[in-house]
Amino acid sequence: MNYQQFIIKAMNYDHGGSHDSDACNMQMLFNWDTEKLCIIFTWWRVNSIGFLILSCFIIILLATSFEFLRFALRKYDTKIQVSYSQLQEGRDANSEEVATQSNANRITYVQQLVRTLIHTSQVFLSFFLMLVFMTYNGFLMISVIIGAAIGYFVFSSSVIDFGESAILIKQGAEARIYTAPFLTRTAIIKERFSKTYRHPTLDKKLTARRVTQEARCLFKCRKSGVDTPVLYFVNTENSTICMEFIQGMIIKDLLISDNEYIQNKEKQDELAEKIGIALAKVHAVDVIHGDLTTSNLMLRESNQSLVIIDFGLSYVSSLPEDKAVDLYVLEKAFLSTHPNSEEMFANILEYYQKNYKASQGILSKLAEVRLRGRKRSMVG
Ligand SMILES: Nc1ncnc2c1ncn2[C@@H]1O[C@H](COP(=O)(O)OP(=O)(O)O)[C@@H](O)[C@H]1O
Ligand SMILES: [Mg+2]
Repeated sequence: MNYQQFIIKAMNYDHGGSHDSDACNMQMLFNWDTEKLCIIFTWWRVNSIGFLILSCFIIILLATSFEFLRFALRKYDTKIQVSYSQLQEGRDANSEEVATQSNANRITYVQQLVRTLIHTSQVFLSFFLMLVFMTYNGFLMISVIIGAAIGYFVFSSSVIDFGESAILIKQGAEARIYTAPFLTRTAIIKERFSKTYRHPTLDKKLTARRVTQEARCLFKCRKSGVDTPVLYFVNTENSTICMEFIQGMIIKDLLISDNEYIQNKEKQDELAEKIGIALAKVHAVDVIHGDLTTSNLMLRESNQSLVIIDFGLSYVSSLPEDKAVDLYVLEKAFLSTHPNSEEMFANILEYYQKNYKASQGILSKLAEVRLRGRKRSMVG
């Protein structure tokens, strides 16, 4: 006797044999029963059309709540992620604290408790709805489906065209960064948000211009052989740029927490070479990155190639002065974030020089810029 036969036999023993009018019709076959219909419990017994309608409403509500819980968990996770990235930003200002970054990745016990509660309720509801379905009653089955449809329609509100699948990973001062599936790959979506202090029309125009400029510089660099994220598409209507998600490490984290890099001069020299060559290529096509920091440089996991990201402040200029300021910004970032990195930065400049013919003028400008800071020369 198999499992199903055993259950049916057991049920017949309990109910089938009795002629009690209070008994439940327990069929494991599809039915449209409106009487003697028991829903999971013996006390939830439908004996009239009115009570059947009420029961269907309750089941619709339960199925809707299931979708609501899924939505609530997602919302809650996003909230934690946003507060985590804000925490991270505050932390950036204090480099001593960076060493404890991995702890900040963990969520608090209360947050984990709330997540667990939502998840457990979701599991309970899903099993409960499955048991409702197991009554094989057409009315109840339709109610579960209607509830799921209503819940999904109401709660799965779309996030910037990528539906519920977009996950916020960073909220900066200028832009939000999401990851989302894009065809068969993972993409990064960078969404610039509006500045409320600006006139809306002006703001829309300026934001669209910025987005276009960022995408253009990104594309220009990639075309000239610099490893940057692949540009998937740009939407100036909602100020988003969709690009390749780089699987790898941020150079800043590498230099702070990877012992291999901290202690090994050879590794540092290898990295300096990659950075120097990449910068030479960027400047050779007259792109000024505008925000060269170790947070905007990454190392691709697959082939250890250096990737330049975040062209949010980039522009095109052939002036040696602008290129010198670009290098100066990187120097400042290196020296303020990474102690004892003078030698590494000097190596970067050496490789930059070797790989860029027009670098002489830029490096002498850099000496000038160092003396006066990044402000533009007021003479000439
Ligand atoms: N293409 C990408 N692949 C992987 N991570 C990315 C990518 N673009 C951005 N990020 C992550 O998001 C962070 C912020 O993105 P970024 O473009 O630098 O914006 P912001 O202007 O806020 O600095 C980066 O430091 C990096 O961790
Ligand atoms: Mg950045």
